Amino acid sequence: MHTRGFSATVLGVLACLLSSACSKPGSNDTASSDTPSPTAEASTTMTRSPFGSLPDGTALELYTFRNASGMEVSVTNYGGIITSLKVPDRNGALGDVTLGYESIDGYLKSSPYFGALIGRYGNRIGNAQFTLDGTTYKLPANDGPNTLHGGVKGFDKVVWNAEPFEREGERGVVFTYTSPDGEEGFPGTLQARVTYTLTDNNELAFDYHATTDKPTVVNLTQHAYFNLAGDGSGDILGHELTINADRYTPVDKNLIPTGELASVAGTPFDFRTKNTIGARINDDHPQLKAGGGYDHNFVLNRSGDGLVLAARVEEPKTGRVMEVHTTEPGLQFYSGNFLDGSIIGKQGHVYAHRTGFCLETQHFPDSPNKPSFPSTTLRPGEEYTSRTVYTFSTM
Ligand code: BGC
Repeated sequence: MHTRGFSATVLGVLACLLSSACSKPGSNDTASSDTPSPTAEASTTMTRSPFGSLPDGTALELYTFRNASGMEVSVTNYGGIITSLKVPDRNGALGDVTLGYESIDGYLKSSPYFGALIGRYGNRIGNAQFTLDGTTYKLPANDGPNTLHGGVKGFDKVVWNAEPFEREGERGVVFTYTSPDGEEGFPGTLQARVTYTLTDNNELAFDYHATTDKPTVVNLTQHAYFNLAGDGSGDILGHELTINADRYTPVDKNLIPTGELASVAGTPFDFRTKNTIGARINDDHPQLKAGGGYDHNFVLNRSGDGLVLAARVEEPKTGRVMEVHTTEPGLQFYSGNFLDGSIIGKQGHVYAHRTGFCLETQHFPDSPNKPSFPSTTLRPGEEYTSRTVYTFSTM
């Protein structure tokens, strides 16, 4: 079912009327339209609308939040997927800066994790197994010999419980999910909570929280694919990128880190000063060959545990700028190398090679098998917390 347009708005309004969570004084949800006037002083809105259903009949929902400057994000409780993120360009015109589909069908049929919430373990665990406290846990291999992004049915493919909220200057949704002991091979019942917040400062923040009842490993992230041109066209090679990292984790032929923390100095991985994504992507460098381009974890420069700038991306034509701050030690920069034009996404856009990029904040890939990497172990009584903020502006 096509859930956008007039009917979705009407359904959203009906759903809102049934849900006190959507109706807040000062918000203008019933008056919202799906196509905001680009430069008008927008009022904040929250809508909740049907988003199709799973083959077993489970009904899905879409939550759309708009802030005071018109920036708008839509997310579904299926996989916590961001289906749309409309951000102003330097003239105030909104454009959708994420790749994805208009309806649930595309996500169910074939999606390289477009916009999805990733768990229990973002990126790869080598040979689909790890040993914790002397016990070896076997996981499903879904990426050659490895486990990628939590397994065959990761957090990107589960239905999350969703509670929309609105507070002064921000609104969003709290997603919760209880992952049973042994799900996708991981030990422990994991209580996961992820809060998506859109602020009036054009920030989209992700707060991750988890607890367990048995020792386990956890590494949650968000897998939005961005193209800041905002019109779904063209590759991302002209985007100008800065990454706050002196080192990265080189990988083997299966994209598993070797364990080394290599200096970026003098390599195509040096984004400490701004460079286009495309300037060196086809250089004759063994790590670019291994990844088919950039598909690597960067070791963020940090002192202390707080939020640090991980990356900044500028799109010169539209003037859109995105900054990523995180509490995580690592950042996976993936340049959309596996996109090959076989996916037709929103508005019929063909997602050709390198038409989207991901900046996934995370602990390093394969940490459960790499004792020298920052630990991803979570034990009963401990709390896993992580925060990442994507901030949009123009230049
Ligand atoms: C990985 C890529 C993978 C992509 C989509 C990224 O996080 O690093 O290797 O192809 O996700 O699955």
